[in-house]
Amino acid sequence: MGPTSRDSVHLPVMAEEIVHHLTVVTDGAYLDLTAGLGGHLLALSKSVDESARLYGVDKDGEAVRVASKRLEKVNQHCKIIQSSYVDILDTVAQFGDDRFDGILLDLGLSSLQLDTAARGFSHNEDGPLDMRFDQEKGLRTAADLVNGLSQSQLANLFRDYGEERRSARIAAAIVRERQKEMILTTSHLKTIILSSSAPAHQKKTLSRIFQALRIAVNSELDSLAEALPNIVSILNSGGRLAVLAYHSLEDRIVKRFFQQQIKGCICPPRLPVCICGKLPTLRAVTRKALLPSQTEIESNPRARSARLRVVERI
Ligand SMILES: C[S@@+](CC[C@H](N)C(=O)[O-])C[C@H]1O[C@@H](n2cnc3c(N)ncnc32)[C@H](O)[C@@H]1O
Repeated sequence: MGPTSRDSVHLPVMAEEIVHHLTVVTDGAYLDLTAGLGGHLLALSKSVDESARLYGVDKDGEAVRVASKRLEKVNQHCKIIQSSYVDILDTVAQFGDDRFDGILLDLGLSSLQLDTAARGFSHNEDGPLDMRFDQEKGLRTAADLVNGLSQSQLANLFRDYGEERRSARIAAAIVRERQKEMILTTSHLKTIILSSSAPAHQKKTLSRIFQALRIAVNSELDSLAEALPNIVSILNSGGRLAVLAYHSLEDRIVKRFFQQQIKGCICPPRLPVCICGKLPTLRAVTRKALLPSQTEIESNPRARSARLRVVERI
């Protein structure tokens, strides 16, 4: 599928709300740390001046190629680099700016990744059990985990990253099956999951197990927790950070980090006066997480579970 046909199916989630909250100055520097197909950068480019600098980062080489092509037509200063947002303090040297007025993190995977069977992210398509965002640098595939982890490691992974109640049963079924034959494809794994889950919950269980593997393959939660303080450190004062999360595990990490930075002080509540001396670094822009409108969910079902939080650097 070429970039043009992909463009027609990719709709950036909550783009209106993100552009509204992120564009504090129209000639500033903006950074999308999960550029994907460049949907949010394109939306941003329409609300800023031509002199604004737009930058992007994505782990996925194919996404970087597609997004760069789409953006070069609308913003001559745009630069998109293949890298992990975890390494942003190093990557930033390759941009023309090292402080930003707006930064976006749109977590999870893109429709390009989900719809490409060969990437192995979807249980609706048959493909190799890969699931790496970065196929060049990523060391472990989902097949490595499914065939290499012990039964209890698999059960913990499905419970912790998929919040799946039948995790032990599914892990046992995987281990039984792999003693006969290695599990290398999404359809093989799907058959095992279906045979060990209750008919009424099959679709949810499939999504949870695939989500758990994807999170583990790409160290998604650790990356997020590690990167957030560095991301805040490259915001201009008054600059904003918007984070779109799609499940409670990642949203919890974002929410807790924001709460801590908004509060500043980390002294135990029993102390009558502050002794840590830590000051707030962030101010909440959105009091609670914003949700997509019903109209957006109808036109873009991928937006269904999105939660948007926005903060401003003090
Ligand atoms: C939901 S998509 C972003 C879609 C994008 N906002 C758009 O409108 O086209 C998430 C993207 O984040 C990328 N990604 C995931 N983890 C990453 C990381 N640690 N560093 C950089 N990019 C990452 C994925 O490769 C994927 O392209």
